[in-house]
Amino acid sequence: MSNIVILGLESSCDDTSAAVIRDGILLSNVIASQDVHAEYGGVVPELASRAHQQNVLPVVDTALRRAGIDKHQLSAIAFTRGPGLLGSLLVGTSFAKGMSLGLRIPIIDVNHLHAHVLSHFIRREESDVVPEYPFLCLLVSGGNSQIILVKDYNKMEILGRTIDDAAGEAFDKCAKVMGLPYPGGPHIDRLAAEGDPKRFPFARPRIPGLDYSFSGLKTSFLYTLRDNLKEDPNFIENNKADLAASLQATIISILMDKLDKAVKQSGVRTIAIGGGVSANSGVRNAVAEYCQRRGLKAFIPPRLFTTDNAAMVAIAGYYKYIDKDFCRYDEVPYARVEV
Ligand code: KG4
Repeated sequence: MSNIVILGLESSCDDTSAAVIRDGILLSNVIASQDVHAEYGGVVPELASRAHQQNVLPVVDTALRRAGIDKHQLSAIAFTRGPGLLGSLLVGTSFAKGMSLGLRIPIIDVNHLHAHVLSHFIRREESDVVPEYPFLCLLVSGGNSQIILVKDYNKMEILGRTIDDAAGEAFDKCAKVMGLPYPGGPHIDRLAAEGDPKRFPFARPRIPGLDYSFSGLKTSFLYTLRDNLKEDPNFIENNKADLAASLQATIISILMDKLDKAVKQSGVRTIAIGGGVSANSGVRNAVAEYCQRRGLKAFIPPRLFTTDNAAMVAIAGYYKYIDKDFCRYDEVPYARVEV
């Protein structure tokens, strides 16, 4: 099959994004982020859905224009059906349904977590290398921390998951108590580059198997600040780089410890990372070094494809299109689901 043109739509949280992929090659990927949430220290669902409504049409229009594709050339529209914020998902889902009815083309529903995993299959050129199955994907974002065994584009098994907070939440919540803006992950990343990662020994979880836990680390971070602030009211300001570096190093060691176990248990020789936290410099370096030391293949996505984007939705939709795995019009978004 050739000349398959897929429009991808992503609206699960606070990014409105549209992308066009032809025969597996990315032609455009447009993302409108929402600044409106910054002053609230987190995403406000109602404001997010309203911003999606304002952004969706111009974002789709720009994606088509940049791709040099007329809407009548589209083969199908792929959209994120969940998990995510229901109001936000409804905007993308309704838009996809309306546009596809007008164009008389199928719609394809995409699981947001599958899309993050499949972001490694986005090619900008024919020669771009993509992972071979099976591979392990460390999916780390604001809402998830999972180790997934990927057997095929539609066959994924969760080997380990967080039992409380996600890695991104650990970054964001600790950053918040340091007085850093939301989302705090990128600020911790920047500060950590200047700090001593061994200065503060924060708590590490003792969870059996491949599951993660980050809530104990968060509490230990909070107590360290509380105790030291009693002695020095400027403790955070005077030590912010060391705090950030120690926090980041602890999160990375928790992530890598379970990833190493998963590699040993599964015998899989290819590792990929995905999700917002995979933009973190320390995480990227740790995975790359780990794979190099053990002779494993590492797939580290370009930073643009780590956070929410429609290119990953379009590529997931492309594979479903080949299988003629379309979505009915009475299907509705879902807030939660496992891989
Ligand atoms: O995948 P994503 O865009 O969406 C959600 O799951 O909501 O991930 C967002 C998460 C946030 O927690 C953010 O702080 C984190 O990814 N993040 C980072 C970095 N860039 C984004 N965490 C650490 N270092 C970064 N450079």
